[in-house]
Amino acid sequence: MTTEKKSVILTGLVVALSLFVVVVNYSEKPYFLLQPVLGQSFSSRWMFSRQPHKTFRPHPGYISIPKQEPLKLHCDVCSVVSSSGQMLSRQAGREIERSSCVWRMNNAPTRGFETDVGRRTDLRVVSHTSVPLLLQKPQHFFGEGNETVYVVWGPLRNMREDGKGIVYNMLRQATENYPHARIYVTTEERMNYCDTVFKKETGKDRIQSGSYLSTGWFTLILAMDMCKEIRVYGMINDTYCKTEGYRKVPYHYYEAGSRDECAEYLLHESAPYGGHRFITEKAVFAKWAKTHPIKFFYPEWQLS
Ligand SMILES: *[C@@H]1O[C@H](CO)[C@@H](O)[C@H](O)[C@H]1NC(C)=O
Ligand SMILES: *[C@@H]1O[C@H](CO)[C@@H](O)[C@H](O)[C@H]1NC(C)=O
Repeated sequence: MTTEKKSVILTGLVVALSLFVVVVNYSEKPYFLLQPVLGQSFSSRWMFSRQPHKTFRPHPGYISIPKQEPLKLHCDVCSVVSSSGQMLSRQAGREIERSSCVWRMNNAPTRGFETDVGRRTDLRVVSHTSVPLLLQKPQHFFGEGNETVYVVWGPLRNMREDGKGIVYNMLRQATENYPHARIYVTTEERMNYCDTVFKKETGKDRIQSGSYLSTGWFTLILAMDMCKEIRVYGMINDTYCKTEGYRKVPYHYYEAGSRDECAEYLLHESAPYGGHRFITEKAVFAKWAKTHPIKFFYPEWQLS
């Protein structure tokens, strides 16, 4: 082959790869930034009786990289801090810090927002699509002295461990660079289980209905197994956006000026493909809250 041909091929490869990266970023990123919402009716009893609150017992649905050890975690009271703009100006930081564990999602920052969201982060549930965002500041998130536990969820194609999972590979590399980092991935079985729960609750097949589960969905399912009591901050309920005079806030508290939360939710709810069903998810959360110790603050949910 001539050098010229080789360089053409090489250039082609580089262009294709860049395009791929761009497409992945643009098609997936917006969807992760969301918070959870959920659907309708699966018997909570069915779902949680098999996984009763397991005190310190290792959870086989989440395994560490690279050692493949199951996640051991138990909290009395978990504060789950949403990434919603609802967190702004509520000054909930102190209250959040009072619970035994503080959970956050994706790359939601604390710096600069301490008064509203608190400082501590004991655990972060992270979407596969947000992993590149964490890796932009690896020292901050994974550096020595950081005790935060990371639980990453994602589809098998990105999370497979055979060398073909892009996101898994990134995480693996991160644990090589930062050997103290505590990173867990959601197993394929657990991912399927979360899909099954969605189907049971909403009667809809997640894949057939063309939607993605949100990080909030994975977070609440994990929290129900790990926390005796769950306090969710900054999550709106399923009717919030239809309520007269609702508070217009940015979709994420750390992205001022972005599309407002309700506009984003409506867009997702009606997207024929690739959206999150935030509103549907919220309705499911409300149902769970009737049989589980889950409470919602800022805004408060009236659950009778
Ligand atoms: C650990 O990482 C979290 C992000 O999950 C960050 O908010 C916190 O400041 C970091 N802590 C340290 C001691 O670097
Ligand atoms: C849902 O949120 C709206 C607006 O905050 C509130 O008026 C309504 O009572 C809430 N419904 C429930 C069931 O919490």
